[in-house]
Formats: sequence, C-alpha cells, structure tokens
Amino acid sequence: MSSPRTFPADFLWGSATASYQIEGGATEGGRGPSIWDTFSHTPGRTLNGDTGDVAADHYHRVREDVAMMKDLGLQAYRFSISWSRVQPGGSGEFNPEGIAFYSGLVDALVEAGIAPVVTLYHWDLPQELEDAGGWGNRETAYRFAEYAERMARELGDRITVWTTLNEPWCSAYLGYGSGVHAPGRTEPATALAAVHHLNLAHGLAGRAIRGVLGDDARLSITLNLHVIRPDDPQSAADRDSVRRIDALANRAFLGPILDGEYPADLLADTAHVTDWGFVQDGDLELTRVPLDVLGVNYYSTVRVRHYDGTGERAENDGHGASSASPWIGVTDVEFVQQPGPYTAMGWNIEPSGMLELLQSVHAAYPDQPLMITENGAAFDDEVSPDGRVHDERRVSYLHDHIDAVGQARDAGVDVRGYFVWSLMDNFEWGYGYDRRFGIVRIDYGTLERIWKDSAYWYRELATTGTLPP
Ligand code: NOJ
Repeated sequence: MSSPRTFPADFLWGSATASYQIEGGATEGGRGPSIWDTFSHTPGRTLNGDTGDVAADHYHRVREDVAMMKDLGLQAYRFSISWSRVQPGGSGEFNPEGIAFYSGLVDALVEAGIAPVVTLYHWDLPQELEDAGGWGNRETAYRFAEYAERMARELGDRITVWTTLNEPWCSAYLGYGSGVHAPGRTEPATALAAVHHLNLAHGLAGRAIRGVLGDDARLSITLNLHVIRPDDPQSAADRDSVRRIDALANRAFLGPILDGEYPADLLADTAHVTDWGFVQDGDLELTRVPLDVLGVNYYSTVRVRHYDGTGERAENDGHGASSASPWIGVTDVEFVQQPGPYTAMGWNIEPSGMLELLQSVHAAYPDQPLMITENGAAFDDEVSPDGRVHDERRVSYLHDHIDAVGQARDAGVDVRGYFVWSLMDNFEWGYGYDRRFGIVRIDYGTLERIWKDSAYWYRELATTGTLPP
C-alpha cells in the first residue's frame, strides 16, 4: 500500500482562470472589444454560438469569488488581465475603471492571504491591434510592452509572479494557423511571424516590468509544452516526426526565451513557408530574459508517426478538427489516436507524461525553477439528487497528476507550485460552455457556484500539503 505524500510548506497550491473565460461584463466599465469578442460573435466559430458576454459573471462577483478562494484554502490565484479592459484600443489611453477592477481584485487577494499570480496575456488581444495586423505585426510586441509597463506601475509589488504570456503556441498556431481560435486566420507564414512577435513581446514586456520594479519582480511565462511519443520507437521516420513536432511545439519558444536562439532544424523545416526575415538583428538578445520561474501547463500527451503519402492522412491533430493544420509546414506527420481513458476533451489521461515532461525540461534547463500553472480535466459532470457533484474521475485525475509532480520533485526537479485548471467552470474557447473544467460548478442559469467533490478534496490538499495515497 502506498503512503501519503507530503509537500513542503512553501509549495504553492493555487487555482487558475483567465479573463475572457470567466469575467463577462464584456461591454461594461469601459472595456473595449477583443479578438475573442469578435470571434465568438461570428456565427459558426464556437460550439452553440457561445460567447464570453456573461461567462461566470466574475466581473460582478469578484468579492464573492475571492471569499470562496479563501474558503478553499488556496494560497495563490492565477488570473489574467483583459488588456482591452485596461486599455480598450491596445494603445494610447488607459481606462481607469478597468485598472481599478484589477487593483481591487489584487487588494482583495492580498487581504485574504492569497498570492496574486498575474498573466498579462491570455489570448484576448484588443481588436484594434488585430485590425492593424495582430501578432503578425511586429508593432503589437511594442504595444504589449507598453501595456505591461503600465500594469507594473499600477499593481507594483502586490503581485507575486508576473507572467507575460499564456501558451503562445495557441495564440500563434491556433489563432493564425488552423484558425480554430481567434482571430481565426489560416495563414501559415503569419503564424510563424506570430511565434516570433510573441517571443519578442515576452522579452520586451519582461524588461519593461523589471525596469519598473527592479529585480524584485518575479518573472514568468507559461508554455504548453508537448510530450510527443513516436508511434513506433524503432522507426527512424517516426522519431524524426517527433523531432519536427517538438521543434514547432516546444523549441520554437524555449529556444528564443531561454537560449536566445531559434533551433536550426526549425528554420530549415519551415524554410519553404518563410525565410524568418521578421527576426531582426538583436531580437534574440531581447527575447531572452532571466525567468524566476517557468510555467508549465500539462494535460495529456500526443503520438505521431511518419505519413508516407499513401492512404488517407489521419485528421486528428490533437487540437480540434479543422481543415488547416496548426503544424506549419508539416505535411508528412500523422497524429495517432492514443489509448484511453480520455477526458471530455478527448484527451488521453496519462499522468506519467507529467513526470516525463518535468524531467525533460529539468534535464535541458537544470537551474530553471518550474511551476505547474495549469493541470486539470473536463468531464460531463452532473448534479446528483443530493445537490452535490460527485466528480470522482476529476479527483482521481488530479490525484495522479499531483502524485507525478511529487515524483518529479523526488527525482530532483525544482517544481515550486501547482495550479489546478480551473477554479470554476468557464468559457472553454471554441467549445463554449460545453466543457467543464472547474472544481466549482457554475450553474449557467442562476450563476450559482456549487463546490464539486474535487473542490472539497483540493481544499484538504491545499490546507494540509498532504496528498492521500
Ligand atoms: C489551456 C488554456 O490556457 C486554458 O485557457 C484552457 O481553458 C485550458 N488549457 C483547457 O483547455
């Protein structure tokens, strides 16, 4: 029989959300439109035509939600700032009412003893910046740094960790490659330009924050690093497919951000799409800025094999069906369905992938502290006749993945904290409200918050630091 696992007292237990997914109040308080407002209001873009107009109504329930986090025993809360709420057009004038909203949230968190972990960009680009080219336009990176600097001045030393970007992989490849995310463009060369401009935005913003707050500012970025398995480990062609997907998914970000360079194989593999002329002299010194902690989001793994052109190529790219691929320039790799069990997203549940990912990042960057900034699962929860949500599959998912984090720590990986995705059910992007990731249920009719069994379970863990066997 296994025994309980105890985490150290300074290990941060938190939960995560993002502005467009929970806030609602889309046209209130002087907020300007973002690309997700435009996208979700475009017929056919989201499941059931869902939008973030109301979402979980966090904008109006912020006090109640912070009180709930305190009851949950959370030590940290990862949230994002809606850029178009604080600077409606993405440049020029800032909106005092929007800034006051986040300042109030931060004060409430600090008062409740909850460490604020802020993300400056969780995909909701001000629409005006998209109209000027979005992440395909280098200027967007400079606008982002101006916004970051202002936030550092406004929120200052009350913030525990400053995260520049959330999952730039999604912003670039799903936003501009496959088009399943806002702004819904399918332009391969622009997607790669977006990769670079996001990396540049990270570096410029990191420098701007440090410029205001000095070395006291703890800087971070959150990446959705992919664990990629070859279908046949004996096949050199399958192993090369892994290398190519790894270049696009992982090293296109880790390289410029931590090493100050793009991998040579990435540039060669995509040379037929773009000459990467958008990388200017000096950029790769800017993209690299020392990180106090690297945020890692982990949900599942992917499996790839070489596609030799015969037969029909598997449609599944692991990131939602679409006619265009997020894997820019790659036409000879197939994504293979993995063995189950699966979550309601169709993602395979594989806790050992968490351990493998943490160990591989640690092996490549041994001095880099890490934090799990997202991990969690969507299931088709139901409210039982007793009024409770008995989400035992989510409890077991969380248990096994947190155990894997503990195993990584035992193996010497410096993981500083864990944030469950998500605090509450929310707008799951293209899937709207149809996928529920929360440990707290949102009744979208009444907007009532109902603790699921996983919330009670997580409270026990967060308050004791002990994972039951
Ligand atoms: C990653 C994203 O950061 C978050 O916004 C999303 O809801 C979860 N993963 C689940 O898909």
